[in-house]
Amino acid sequence: MRNKTIAIIGTGNVGRALGSRLAHLDHKVLYGTRNPTSRKMLDLLQQSGGNAVALEISEAVKKADVVVLAVPWTKAQAIVQSVPDWKGKILVDCTNALNEDLSALTVAPTTSAAEEIAKWAKGAAVVKAFNSVGSRVMANPQFGTDNAVLFICGNELEAKTIIKTMGEGLGFDVTDAGDLISARYLEQMAMFWIHLALRQKMGSDFAFKLLKR
Ligand SMILES: NC(=O)c1ccc[n+]([C@@H]2O[C@H](COP(=O)([O-])OP(=O)(O)OC[C@H]3O[C@@H](n4cnc5c(N)ncnc54)[C@H](OP(=O)(O)O)[C@@H]3O)[C@@H](O)[C@H]2O)c1
Repeated sequence: MRNKTIAIIGTGNVGRALGSRLAHLDHKVLYGTRNPTSRKMLDLLQQSGGNAVALEISEAVKKADVVVLAVPWTKAQAIVQSVPDWKGKILVDCTNALNEDLSALTVAPTTSAAEEIAKWAKGAAVVKAFNSVGSRVMANPQFGTDNAVLFICGNELEAKTIIKTMGEGLGFDVTDAGDLISARYLEQMAMFWIHLALRQKMGSDFAFKLLKR
């Protein structure tokens, strides 16, 4: 997916890991951030090399083909709805609608964060991705000779093909889990990942692998 311009909304754990790697893979990265001139932002730009710039959120979205939404779930609605026009954009939803102690999803089981975001971002092709891997794994999906699996889902095939190529470029084995409604499963999978990381004390440097024959 050369020649795509990718906006990364949110420069926390996920935004930093994906943005800096995508910039080093020669994508044009537009960080959409609350404060484009903060010290933190300038450090991230330096870490990202020459292919990245920092902009206000709506400006980054306007100039991008692909928008990676990497913000806290509780802020997602306001941020998505602050963008005047989502038509023609691919919106990659990384969020998980976590409750305060990270023990449950607040929107399951009859909808998902991705389906709610699709209602707010009218005209965007929403692809759920990067929600059930940790940010350390986004920074490096390789485990010896194995690659972590990246599950994606969405209703538009062309958008999923673009995100599949992006995920493979980052080093993941990408599996299409179906229509956007499958986000209900991918978000529960993230819950299980969080359970293993926090309650089973596995840390954050592990990932799921899909075996097939
Ligand atoms: N951490 C993980 O390993 C992981 C893995 C999979 C999915 N996720 C999901 O991905 C999303 C981002 O996770 P994260 O760990 O990157 O979160 P984080 O470290 O808390 O960063 C979120 C970023 O969102 C931006 N933001 C915009 N408006 C905000 C507001 N009002 N309050 C706070 N932040 C605001 C901030 O960037 P600016 O300061 O640049 O505006 C902030 O750095 C979450 O929904 C999370 O559930 C996380």
